[in-house]
Amino acid sequence: MDSRSWWVLEPDPPEHGLPDDLRARDRFGGRDCGWVAQMRPFVRHFTRPGQCVFDPFCGFATTLLAAALEGRQACGIEIDADRAALARERLRRHGVDAPIAVGSLPDTAPPRAIDLCLTNVPYFGCRWPQDDTQGAAAAGQLYLERDYAAYLERLRDIFHGVRAALPDGGFCIAMVENVVIDQRMLPLAWDLGRLLGGLFVAHEERLLCYPREAVALPAATTRGDRSHEYALIFQKARETICIASTQAELQAIEQAGFAFELYGSFARWLQRGDADSPRLPADADLLLPDDEARFNQLLHWLHERHYQLSLWGEPILPPVRLQQLRAHWYLRAQRRDRLGRLVRLDLCLASQAAEYLRGQPDSAR
Ligand SMILES: C[S@@+](CC[C@H](N)C(=O)[O-])C[C@H]1O[C@@H](n2cnc3c(N)ncnc32)[C@H](O)[C@@H]1O
Repeated sequence: MDSRSWWVLEPDPPEHGLPDDLRARDRFGGRDCGWVAQMRPFVRHFTRPGQCVFDPFCGFATTLLAAALEGRQACGIEIDADRAALARERLRRHGVDAPIAVGSLPDTAPPRAIDLCLTNVPYFGCRWPQDDTQGAAAAGQLYLERDYAAYLERLRDIFHGVRAALPDGGFCIAMVENVVIDQRMLPLAWDLGRLLGGLFVAHEERLLCYPREAVALPAATTRGDRSHEYALIFQKARETICIASTQAELQAIEQAGFAFELYGSFARWLQRGDADSPRLPADADLLLPDDEARFNQLLHWLHERHYQLSLWGEPILPPVRLQQLRAHWYLRAQRRDRLGRLVRLDLCLASQAAEYLRGQPDSAR
């Protein structure tokens, strides 16, 4: 893989494309089948020979074939049983042994241990044949999702499953483009980027360009030919916070009159100091009194300072009920400054933490 942020791809040689007879058997005419050539550089760069590449939306097994051609193992999940059968047939013709499970994450697990997730997401607004709305494939088929927010939520659940399956340090690469439906543009690539940013650490992007003849447009017309895609590169990694900014923020919270106690890894790190624990903390845990009104005042204060507030990755705005907070254990407040430095505060109730800590060894306190 080279350093250019955009690549112009060469179409696949015929022997790597989806065979015509298999394309003809697909209800969708294989319209959403990608290119092997688009996947190979990522397979080479992000895995070693023998490691396993996983595609949670494996379709016609294009990613799996790319992995096999690069000497890697592969496995996939596909929700449509007929598609999975076509994909197996395609792999069989190439002599590739790569298991494909029918179903969907998180309920269906990857068929083997994985090292890299490399995928092309099913696009929102795709006109999947309507006769399938009654079929078994309908449940969970993202092509049939009618609501954009629900579609994004499902994607988040699925990538949550990817995160759980990846080893620490493993990469998750998703190919996606912004879509135009009835002349309305949905920023799907950017929404997916934001969503993946809540689960992984963003690393890079590549713009994949598919060569096409350009046509002149009448003045002031904006229509494009959608011949590019983003490859969004994320990593399952532990992002550490900026100690100096976190300390400055904690001081500001105190000065604003909010009482809290520090505990957990950040408190321990402060006690022991830099030299003994080179592993920087990933958050600062704050214990707060069980006072709903005061808790919400703090949330408003943080919100005004441009903190993003979330419960288990789901964005939230005050007021928050203490009951809701107890069910999630903590509320996350995070912000980034203009140097990209992260402050991440996990707010939880002192009473609940005391209950939890009673069951823990001393070293965890
Ligand atoms: C863009 S296509 C993938 C094509 C694949 N990259 C290829 O070139 O062979 C997306 C696939 O995701 C599948 N899909 C949709 N919803 C799914 C879900 N919830 N879980 C797993 N697969 C799903 C669709 O049936 C479709 O085959």
